[in-house]
Amino acid sequence: MTSSFENISPSSDSSLLTIEDLDLSGKTVVLRVDINTPIDPKTLKLLELNRIMEAAVTIKDLSNSKVVVMSHQGRVGRYDYIPLEQHAEALSKVLGKEVKFVDDVFGPAAREAISSLQDNQVLLLDNLRFTAEENVEYTPEAAANTYLVRKLAPLFDACVLDAFPTAHRSSPSIVGFAEVLPTCGGRLIVKELKTLNRILKVAKGPYVAVLGGAKVSDRIEAVETLISNKRADKVLLCGLLANVFLRAVGKLRMPLGIDKEEQYVKKAHTLLDEYPDVFEFPSDVAVERSGERVEVRLEDLREDEAVYDIGHKTVENYSKIIRGAGTVFMSGPPGFFEKEGFGYGTESLLRSMASSFATTIVSGGHLSAALQKFGIKEWIDHVSTAGGALVLYLAGKRLPLIEALYKAARRWQASSR
Ligand code: 3PG
Repeated sequence: MTSSFENISPSSDSSLLTIEDLDLSGKTVVLRVDINTPIDPKTLKLLELNRIMEAAVTIKDLSNSKVVVMSHQGRVGRYDYIPLEQHAEALSKVLGKEVKFVDDVFGPAAREAISSLQDNQVLLLDNLRFTAEENVEYTPEAAANTYLVRKLAPLFDACVLDAFPTAHRSSPSIVGFAEVLPTCGGRLIVKELKTLNRILKVAKGPYVAVLGGAKVSDRIEAVETLISNKRADKVLLCGLLANVFLRAVGKLRMPLGIDKEEQYVKKAHTLLDEYPDVFEFPSDVAVERSGERVEVRLEDLREDEAVYDIGHKTVENYSKIIRGAGTVFMSGPPGFFEKEGFGYGTESLLRSMASSFATTIVSGGHLSAALQKFGIKEWIDHVSTAGGALVLYLAGKRLPLIEALYKAARRWQASSR
């Protein structure tokens, strides 16, 4: 082995292989990236290219191989669950060379396209989540036994895992290929782990987590670990997560209409009982009335109104807490900033982070796009490509993708003895 990153994960003292460790020249390599991208709900066009640009870095470094790129996009049933054709076009532009695209994942068309690849060529398969198996979480052994892996693995010589934002999902593409192929980490994995490791070494309290966005399931699971592992002295609630907690304390009466809502409300209750001083709630919010942004106190919120942002009073309170913090982590936008007139909360809290002396970490594609839009990206210490995966990583959880890389490295070391 020529390169490794010892002790990079708080949960492991093993090492992982990088591209230099495997001789990939002339080989057919499957590269699992995460180019799951924010999509405009109206036009269904890509809203930004951040993750695509990161994927391009690794693809460039595999230029002597036949590269088969895989990713998921969106979630089944949501507006952002779309094919990857646009992603292939965007990737071609970023790379300055053709990226072939096949609208298939492991059927005959995909296998034919893979088999006819030449050195230096890049092929993108279609949205992995179009296959049932990719929407299920498996043990690594069971993942290796899925149709996806069994059909495709014989066509590949090696696997490069670079999907840091999906590191918390044990789907077949994340943990299955790594069981049966020589496997290493791509450039993004190394960059993220190296930076996070450095930041976590110097990070100091008080730790403040600003949690927003629409993905309640990931946030609510991770928040307890964040608090119990002393990674969140204060949690500033925003977005849909705030609404779940507001329901738990009876300040919002109308159901939110999300999956497993009652279970989350119950969990919020338990967390509030257990950690009464940790959570901060919005005191005012922004809604749309006659096409305009209107700020209301929670008590004045109508039962049928959707909340699109936090209000000025909440921003003032949250900004004060952010300015007094040693480390601030934001995951998920505080408001629906893509919607005209509702970017205030997101912009203001990001600006408070950017101008504070705290160590700052911002996570996920939407927030990265927001930072770019507001022109303050370079003021944040680390802008991670990951959302839910990063929350879990910071909370100290073992991530299936990282574990798969360690396991593959141990197997490689044992076989080269
Ligand atoms: C993300 O954007 O957080 C990753 O692409 C994972 O997506 P998921 O939460 O839908 O699994």
